[in-house]
Amino acid sequence: MSPAPLPESAIPEDGLDHFAARITAAVAPLINQQASALQLERPRQEEHGEFSLPCFRFAAGTGEKPPALAARLADAIEIADVEASAVGPFLNFRIASTAMAQVVLADAGREDYGSAKEGLTSIVEFSSPNIAKPMHVGHMRTTVIGAALARLFDHLGHKVIRINHLGDWGAQFGKLVAAWRRWGSEESLLTDPIDHLLKLYVRYHEEEEQDPTLGEDAKAAFQELESGEDNETRKTWIRFTQESLKEFQKVYDRFGISFDYLRGESWYEDKLEGLLAWLDSCGVTEESDGATIVDLTSEDIKTPCLVKTAHGTTLYATRDLAAARSRWDEFSFDQSLYVVGAEQTLHFQQFFAVLRRCGADWASRLEHVPFGLIRLAEGKLSTRAGRVISLKEVLDRAVELALAAVEEKNPELANKEEVAEIIGVGATMFHDLKHQRQKDVVFDWKEVLSFEGDTGPYLQYTYARCGSILRKAGKPADRDNFDSSLVAEESRELCIALGRLPQAIREAAQKREPMIVAQALLRIGAAGNVYYRENRVLGLEDPAQENARLVVLETLRNTLSMGLGLLGIRCPEEM
Ligand code: ARG
Repeated sequence: MSPAPLPESAIPEDGLDHFAARITAAVAPLINQQASALQLERPRQEEHGEFSLPCFRFAAGTGEKPPALAARLADAIEIADVEASAVGPFLNFRIASTAMAQVVLADAGREDYGSAKEGLTSIVEFSSPNIAKPMHVGHMRTTVIGAALARLFDHLGHKVIRINHLGDWGAQFGKLVAAWRRWGSEESLLTDPIDHLLKLYVRYHEEEEQDPTLGEDAKAAFQELESGEDNETRKTWIRFTQESLKEFQKVYDRFGISFDYLRGESWYEDKLEGLLAWLDSCGVTEESDGATIVDLTSEDIKTPCLVKTAHGTTLYATRDLAAARSRWDEFSFDQSLYVVGAEQTLHFQQFFAVLRRCGADWASRLEHVPFGLIRLAEGKLSTRAGRVISLKEVLDRAVELALAAVEEKNPELANKEEVAEIIGVGATMFHDLKHQRQKDVVFDWKEVLSFEGDTGPYLQYTYARCGSILRKAGKPADRDNFDSSLVAEESRELCIALGRLPQAIREAAQKREPMIVAQALLRIGAAGNVYYRENRVLGLEDPAQENARLVVLETLRNTLSMGLGLLGIRCPEEM
């Protein structure tokens, strides 16, 4: 049961989409098709225009060879402001510069540019760190990619539900409480809670090997927790959760991220029994060495899903099953995404398959959105002790380097610290988002923070540069008296790049690939830089010309901040 296709009216016609709609509407009746069935592509060679329709698919229907069909259509078609031509089996379309500038420069830069009314209910579960441990650099990807996807869905008119599935349940919390009872220090918990808890946990783990009573204590403590009583153990665990959350929140604040629901694994605790009973009633459970499993060979998965241990405790997968079911009951979502590293692929395959075996038709709406690892460029990011670097340390270092760069480039700048925070954090996020999600990412400081090349700071700089020119102009662009013909040719490349952003937004959301928006923004940035390098804006003799260029710059600036905003990245006014 997949979501129904979107009604055509839900697709906006901003930017180049406006012309795409004209093209498909004109071509469709000539080949007896619905406009929505025509998939326009992007010609491989730029000089062939902005859109292309491969004619292979339709030639059979008309009894012609594809090149003949393309040629015939090119002759027959008349579309306002669009010129059609045939190249082999392709029907290519080139948009007239003036009309394009007119449409694109009016649409782009609006806050709702490329937005839609898709109306789906989309859950995005992301970040989900484990409490009592630092958020490390590996949590960056889920956090940044998940938040970006949520923003893109939001822009497309989804009802978005952001969930943080904190790892806050399991036998390890018995250990932690037992360790706290032995060696816990109020003072250390107050100064650096996560560091203290991590040390307690590690120490317990080590000493457990020598002293088996520790293992017993931990088990007892977890039982106390699982009893659901409001006892001392539970109070301690709640405190650990809250202290951890305070630390996580600092990172979320820097990323500008919020959640609709902070629901850790423990939140589903009272739903586990019901879940297990449901699995039994569906007849999918079996006993295996005292444990309860669900066999998945019928689903082509060799490893069964363990849902209850021989000791009667539940597992990560049990809680995920309960969570999925509870979310379906509560939200009736159209899609529910789990933005979690590729190393957990089997886990998701397994629990999705369990739900399918239970006949839950909504299981097809669940989707694991995996991503590759972050690899740190050797040596530079690991501490001497070889410890994993925390996310906070990464951000601090990025900001420190950004500050140094600002000191060097613009020593007079008033609010350097604030700007460095925006650049450093933004650079880190952009670096994460500009790569294909499934690929591993190598994190190299020099590259991440460079003000040139395919980086966040480069785009932020372009934004700031436009702002500075606009401020110098001393007056806002006058859009009522904008003559697009004055800038049509010189801004053509930029308008194409700006005009393609709506499509990039849709594609990024469909493919769960924020990189598509990041790359579209880089093209806008590159074309924008060429534009203001080659076209002086201020001090022109012709005020109409100056105004037209101001419109271009203002649109460029607004689109950059809107587009980067979709990725969660802020822009400093000066840098
Ligand atoms: N807490 C887990 C971890 O840090 C990630 C949770 C992913 N989400 C889920 N529904 N299993 O590895």
